[in-house]
Amino acid sequence: MPKGTIYYVKIAVTGGAGFIGSNLVLRLLNDGHYVTIIDNFSTGRIENLGDDLHHPRLVINRIDLTDGDATCKTLTDVDVVYHLAANADVRDGWKHPRKDHEQNIMATHNVLEAMRLNSIPRIVFSSTGSVYGETKVVPTPENAPFPIQTSLYGASKLAAEALIQAYVEGGLVTATIFRFVSILGPRYSHGHITDFMRQLLRNPDELMVLGDGSQTKSYLHVNDCVDALVNHLVSRDKMCTYNLGVDHTITVHDSIGWITAEMGLTPTLKFSGGNQGWIGDNPLIHLDIAAIRKSGWEPKYSIKESVIETTRWILANRWVLEPKA
Ligand SMILES: NC(=O)c1ccc[n+]([C@@H]2O[C@H](COP(=O)([O-])OP(=O)(O)OC[C@H]3O[C@@H](n4cnc5c(N)ncnc54)[C@H](O)[C@@H]3O)[C@@H](O)[C@H]2O)c1
Repeated sequence: MPKGTIYYVKIAVTGGAGFIGSNLVLRLLNDGHYVTIIDNFSTGRIENLGDDLHHPRLVINRIDLTDGDATCKTLTDVDVVYHLAANADVRDGWKHPRKDHEQNIMATHNVLEAMRLNSIPRIVFSSTGSVYGETKVVPTPENAPFPIQTSLYGASKLAAEALIQAYVEGGLVTATIFRFVSILGPRYSHGHITDFMRQLLRNPDELMVLGDGSQTKSYLHVNDCVDALVNHLVSRDKMCTYNLGVDHTITVHDSIGWITAEMGLTPTLKFSGGNQGWIGDNPLIHLDIAAIRKSGWEPKYSIKESVIETTRWILANRWVLEPKA
């Protein structure tokens, strides 16, 4: 895009009612674009859209992407698809082994087919650092070998990436794939902070921690994530894959310290033990972000700032901890 020229683009955001999707939708509307949300509201919430729910440039379609016909009829007349809809729950994969296959692989296939049949030229996809499984290379660059998959979620995202690559090689779409670390910030709805805060609001004196607390993780603020996504609304490249994260890590212990301090609590900690929180929990996640940096993107928030802001946001928006209406 020539510098200084603003193009307003017609964009579909699948999963636009979810945590990251809603942050992206609000940003795209703010930037002047026309946005269509496609979401089945399985985990997405109407509350996430706040005052923009009735925005004149926003259309919301309640569609399940596992329904290929409905997807094809709905995903039309846009220039770019941000495909974020997915089962984003890594931990409970083995409780419902078909879910990752259906929501992450089949749904991606249906999105790509709708794009082919409706001549939509570009997809931006939310993948995950979980695709690296048990990699031995840390910090992990995009071209690290990652032969061992440790979760159905990671495996299904890797399969979705492969499908996208095949459509790119077939000359049907161009693609940018982002492999995120865990994301924090406003409208955060699932992950270790909600788990801890739910427990602490029920019983401020005790906190049960999965693993031994030494798991080392990297987190990114959703505003930084959205910055990267919108930077790649258009691209001259046929296909690019970027890690998204920060260049430092924290332990679960660090995070507990910041969350409990924000809540003004000093609970007794109990640990389930072992260096993994659950089967497939990578005890060390740290992605190499040199490639995305070269494209001009830089994270603005430290992990500590992200954890504290997320804790404050949840304390002020406790509806996010309640079951959906
Ligand atoms: N949150 C993270 O830390 C994180 C990390 C890495 C990757 N990701 C990826 O980013 C994306 C967004 O994650 P999130 O944290 O916002 O999750 P989320 O659960 O808040 O959002 C997912 C959205 O997709 C919708 N959805 C799910 N299945 C659907 C289907 N079959 N048809 C239509 N809509 C459907 C849900 O209703 C929800 O609105 C996901 O693809 C996830 O795998 C998230």
